[in-house]
Amino acid sequence: MSDIIDLAVIGGTGLYRFPGLEDAEKHVVNTRFGTPSDRIVIGRVGNKRIAFLARHGEGHSVAPHRVNYRANVWALHHLGARRVVAVNAVGGIREDMGPRAVVVPDQIIDYTHGRLSSFCDVEGAEVRHVDFSHPYSAGLRAELLVAARKAGVAVVNGGCYGATQGPRLETVAEIARLRRDGCDLVGMTGMPEAALARELELDYACLALVANWAAGCGDQQEISLPEIFAHLEAATAQVPMILSALLA
Ligand code: HPA
Repeated sequence: MSDIIDLAVIGGTGLYRFPGLEDAEKHVVNTRFGTPSDRIVIGRVGNKRIAFLARHGEGHSVAPHRVNYRANVWALHHLGARRVVAVNAVGGIREDMGPRAVVVPDQIIDYTHGRLSSFCDVEGAEVRHVDFSHPYSAGLRAELLVAARKAGVAVVNGGCYGATQGPRLETVAEIARLRRDGCDLVGMTGMPEAALARELELDYACLALVANWAAGCGDQQEISLPEIFAHLEAATAQVPMILSALLA
């Protein structure tokens, strides 16, 4: 299939389908890099064609370090996607990025390891060193910010996303180090997805939803899962409004 997709969305924890999608059809895609996390749903919102992929698969069965990021990004590109909004649950480090905040980050530091992180990483592929100075597309970031404003959703413009390996949460010392490094947010799925999108020259931007204060940042002794899910649900409720405004 090669019809243009106007927007692709990769949903993270808490976002398992694209709200209000009409005529939705599920596509099974197999790539030379393996199988994506789930079937890719293609449908319409008004006259716009939308693709949606749940990063963690159906029933959240794929852990962050086991996501086949290459298959996911390749499959979306193969189906005709050129613009991708990634929705990622994160922990907040910076004071203005507490639980339920919505952030459009502009930088990344990658602490992940052992993930297949390039399409070059196969026999016979040309080695490319893509520019990644600005890991998110300026144009799509700006569109997201305008869409949020139109939708009346408060978002924080900019911030550095620290991508950790997971699936465990971080120690207080690890978060203190991330803060010293300049990270404002921490999440487990931002990389290598963003770099793979760049390798395929996709426009790619992130909507980060803060689910909890990162370890040692709030006044909690421990991070509780029920709290994470409650905050995430509240933050995720804002996403449809932003996406609708983006597509209007
Ligand atoms: N750390 C890493 N990833 C996360 C967190 C966190 O505290 N919260 C949600 N995703």
